[in-house]
Amino acid sequence: MRIFGDFLGETRSGNSAALLPSPSNKLVISAPRAVITMASGRGGTGKSVLTVNLAAAIALSGRKIGILDLDLNAPAIPSLLGIKPFRMAPMVGGIEPAGGPLGLRVMAANLMPDREEPPLISFADDEPEPAPVHETGPIKSNYSETITTLAGQTRFGPVDLVLIDLAPGLDHLYRASRMIEMNAVIMVGHPSELSRRAIRAGVEMLAGEPQVAGVIENMVGFNCSTCHSVRPLFPASEAAGAGSGLPLLARLPFDPRLSECAARGTAFVREYPETPLARQINELARQIEQLIPARQQRELLAASRP
Ligand SMILES: Nc1ncnc2c1ncn2[C@@H]1O[C@H](COP(=O)(O)OP(=O)(O)O)[C@@H](O)[C@H]1O
Ligand SMILES: [Mg+2]
Repeated sequence: MRIFGDFLGETRSGNSAALLPSPSNKLVISAPRAVITMASGRGGTGKSVLTVNLAAAIALSGRKIGILDLDLNAPAIPSLLGIKPFRMAPMVGGIEPAGGPLGLRVMAANLMPDREEPPLISFADDEPEPAPVHETGPIKSNYSETITTLAGQTRFGPVDLVLIDLAPGLDHLYRASRMIEMNAVIMVGHPSELSRRAIRAGVEMLAGEPQVAGVIENMVGFNCSTCHSVRPLFPASEAAGAGSGLPLLARLPFDPRLSECAARGTAFVREYPETPLARQINELARQIEQLIPARQQRELLAASRP
């Protein structure tokens, strides 16, 4: 991966490797069988709504699921699941996630001890701490400290899977993938050239660490309930994952009832299980379940760490 300084003529060659800490330095989330990150280079592709609905679909099949919302500025998962932000009591030995519907265990920046709405303004380690806006304004937080707390101290317990929902932008994917041990990344895009480019850039940036399991192409068309045809929502363009070499995991239609459920804080797959979108999310959930390794594999991996 090239870094910006390379283009300014600085002699930075070779430095990019220093940006990659060795895998053994990564935070290990406690204690799921698998950690899968939902990512995209762009906002508004449906990462957050699909995260909660995939989690719900997998939980409905009897598995225990955690969701870690790492969108520090605009955490959406608690609200999408009808969980009211509240101050959680710190526990000895870690933070207990909030309980959501279907036994989902949820952690987000607005559920952290000492954090609640309004959202956080995060700053990087090498940036000066921003001055307070006003007494009740956004809470300042050091980015890597907050990620470390959320990922490293939340006690999800022996769940089958933790889904991580990220803020939009490849920088968030890069930082999270270098800080946290994860089994796979799933890219969520929509059929636009900008989304396609962002996915390709993301895959190149990750360079296989961790592996990208595939692409979900979201909002490809609208199922017209009157004429029963599927109409494209975007101008004809290449699929979101075109050119990335990744498997296309699903092509999901637009269904306004998904947004309506999101606004009410309920899972669409539970409310409208017979719709084409819910059926496809369920199929996708079965594919994701295939990525969960047997428990022993993750324990062996953890045990092999120095
Ligand atoms: N397949 C879909 N059908 C209908 N609305 C959708 C669909 N996918 C996403 N949305 C809506 O698009 C908006 C952006 O989704 P969101 O999950 O917040 O995106 P991201 O997390 O990638 O920024 C939300 O209002 C969401 O309800
Ligand atoms: Mg989001």
